[in-house]
Amino acid sequence: MKHLLKNWMGAGMLLLASSLVAQTKTPVYQNLNAPIEDRIEDALLRMTLEEKVAMIHAQSKFCSPGVARLGIPENWTSDGPHGIRAEVFWDEWDQAGWTNDSCMAFPALTCLAATWNPEMASLYGKSIGEEARYRNKNILLGPGVNIYRLPLNGRNFEYMGEDPYLASKMVVPYIQGVQKNHVAACVKHYALNNQELDRDHINVNVSDRALYEIYLPAFKAAVQEGGAWAIMGAYNQYKNQHSCHNQYLLNDILKRDWKFDGVVISDWGGVHNTNESIHNGLDMEFGSWTNGLTWSASNAYDNYYLAVPYLNLLRSGKEDVKILDEKVRRVLRLIFRTNMAPTRSFGSFVSDEHRLAGRTIAEEGIVLLQNKNNVLPVDVNKTRKIAVIGENAIKMMTIGGGSSSLKAKYETSPLKGIQDRAAKNNVEVVYERGYVGETSAQQDGMSVADIKDDRSAEQLLNDAINAAKTADWVIFVGGLNKHEFQDSEGNDRKTMDLPYGQDKLISELVKANPKTAVVILSGNAVSMPWVNQVPAIVETWYNGSEAGSALASILFGDVNPSGKLPFSFPVNLKDNGAIALGAYPGDNKNVTYSEDILVGYRWHDTKKIKPLFAFGHGLSYTQFAYGKLSINKKAIAQGEKLTVAIPVKNIGQRAGAEIVQLYIRDEKSSLPRPEKELKGFSKINLQAGEEKTVTFTIEPEMLQFYDDRQGAWVAEPGKFEVLIGASAVDIRQKVDFNLQ
Ligand code: GLC
Repeated sequence: MKHLLKNWMGAGMLLLASSLVAQTKTPVYQNLNAPIEDRIEDALLRMTLEEKVAMIHAQSKFCSPGVARLGIPENWTSDGPHGIRAEVFWDEWDQAGWTNDSCMAFPALTCLAATWNPEMASLYGKSIGEEARYRNKNILLGPGVNIYRLPLNGRNFEYMGEDPYLASKMVVPYIQGVQKNHVAACVKHYALNNQELDRDHINVNVSDRALYEIYLPAFKAAVQEGGAWAIMGAYNQYKNQHSCHNQYLLNDILKRDWKFDGVVISDWGGVHNTNESIHNGLDMEFGSWTNGLTWSASNAYDNYYLAVPYLNLLRSGKEDVKILDEKVRRVLRLIFRTNMAPTRSFGSFVSDEHRLAGRTIAEEGIVLLQNKNNVLPVDVNKTRKIAVIGENAIKMMTIGGGSSSLKAKYETSPLKGIQDRAAKNNVEVVYERGYVGETSAQQDGMSVADIKDDRSAEQLLNDAINAAKTADWVIFVGGLNKHEFQDSEGNDRKTMDLPYGQDKLISELVKANPKTAVVILSGNAVSMPWVNQVPAIVETWYNGSEAGSALASILFGDVNPSGKLPFSFPVNLKDNGAIALGAYPGDNKNVTYSEDILVGYRWHDTKKIKPLFAFGHGLSYTQFAYGKLSINKKAIAQGEKLTVAIPVKNIGQRAGAEIVQLYIRDEKSSLPRPEKELKGFSKINLQAGEEKTVTFTIEPEMLQFYDDRQGAWVAEPGKFEVLIGASAVDIRQKVDFNLQ
């Protein structure tokens, strides 16, 4: 027995010793408890020149190599901002036809911005991050925060409106939510990608003031507050350098000034030059030799600017490996933050939570633009029949629009949503197309239900009018769609008008039945010549899988609308600054942002041009009264921060949410400033009869403007005004103070 014991003991010691040896042998880069920076340096030391160069450019449509020899995984990117794009073939844009990649389609980011609720942005980021994690993508190619400069940009539906403060406040929680899943958000398109026309080469001329005050803030917030792990360079040029390899935007502002420690990824096809790619701040090259949408040279990966051409320069000693190492460090940092993080969540896909998130965000973002005589919500006790009219009631909107197109697990159409909701109260619903715009949608080689209709335009119109005549309610569902020259990547709209003769149809419908609600699906402002004829107008965005259910909840009053516009609706296109000044689309080489800092409501205010519907406008089924604004001026004397407070009361019959907006006006400044600028907002929920006091602290940066004479943000002493409003044109209270 003793002998046996001795043997066991010996074996045990041997095992222990070997495991200890093994322990000490674990390379630092694999040690999950080691500091990331140590792991990076250790991995770098172990990588060959070829492995380093391979890691900084794509090997397929959406992925780049890791180092299999070292157990370092590949980096997998995926579009897009509204949901996880279907899997495509290794080297194609077309879909690979997987059966487990039908995703949750979340609302477009214009809808998220219209919630004015950072909690919704958090929920959104968490949910889409879980979907990305489940699909094993460690880089999400979104969100987009390019500023809405004019109502023709085909991609405005992917972004967060015209105001840098609102976009900054809404993008930060989204990024944080995504990255909690160990998925990198890749904020795009940095910077000045505000039109699709000539996007791949147009050179943007813009003043430093407009750059710093309007176009950069959301990216700066994304980096410094959101902690974004990746940024995508834009297609266009700035100072005659492509944004994907741009000394000013990438090396000077992003990495030197903002101290960005993440990865700069090119847009797909945004790289044009090896030398600039090496020296001007690019870290990963994707999509070269493609147009970013449909066309691509096959297996061009070795020809990438940062592939063999770069390797040859390194091997011949013409380029210093130190610069390569700096790029690789950033990529390794992203890997250790995601794929090789100490702990990793598991993600989830089209879960009940994600369905609820999609619906809640949509319901909070839908904007009630007009509601004369409180005609909405539909009163089911007085409604036997509803006529739903319009192509957008049945047309799939999750497909198309460019890289944000999705293969959704489901998409509840507006018609279906209204039918399901009406059925609960035995209300009959009839449907008429009214017009035929587009009969099918296809994207990434996937096509959807063909909604062909052989009736003549005359017949379609008459059938719609007849249906309207015999219904208690008419709900027209129109607007734009995701086809080219509408709300779609790659092209801009040519007009602000609704397509397919919708204006005429709407006017005929409201003549046939005055109880007509117009529901607009769009990511851009549209002209509304019929605005004074129709009692009710709803902007319902592109709301993804839950679009129809959320819209029905609002129309039937199950949910009280609380969204507000993230951008202005001009009456006419020429009421927009860039258009009025002929500052769009440029001459195919250059475009100059002549409206400068006067974007959106800043232009409308300063030029005294009344918008059709203002930035920050949105109605409720209840009413809110604003009390007297107070300011504690003595705080200044005591060297404390100034605060303002305003009571807001729900004086209606039902609970609701109000978005209280704070604007600042600088009475006198040494450089021109807009009439006023959004510097605060708060969304408050109030029961009927309930009153709450909203308090804002006046922070120094709220008073500053960018002085391009000294390249610094300054708040000049003098008189300032605080304006509290329910929208940019509905100012309820003002108070002024003097800044010493
Ligand atoms: C596209 C878009 C970009 C997208 C990328 C990959 O062209 O500009 O937003 O993420 O290429 O599809």
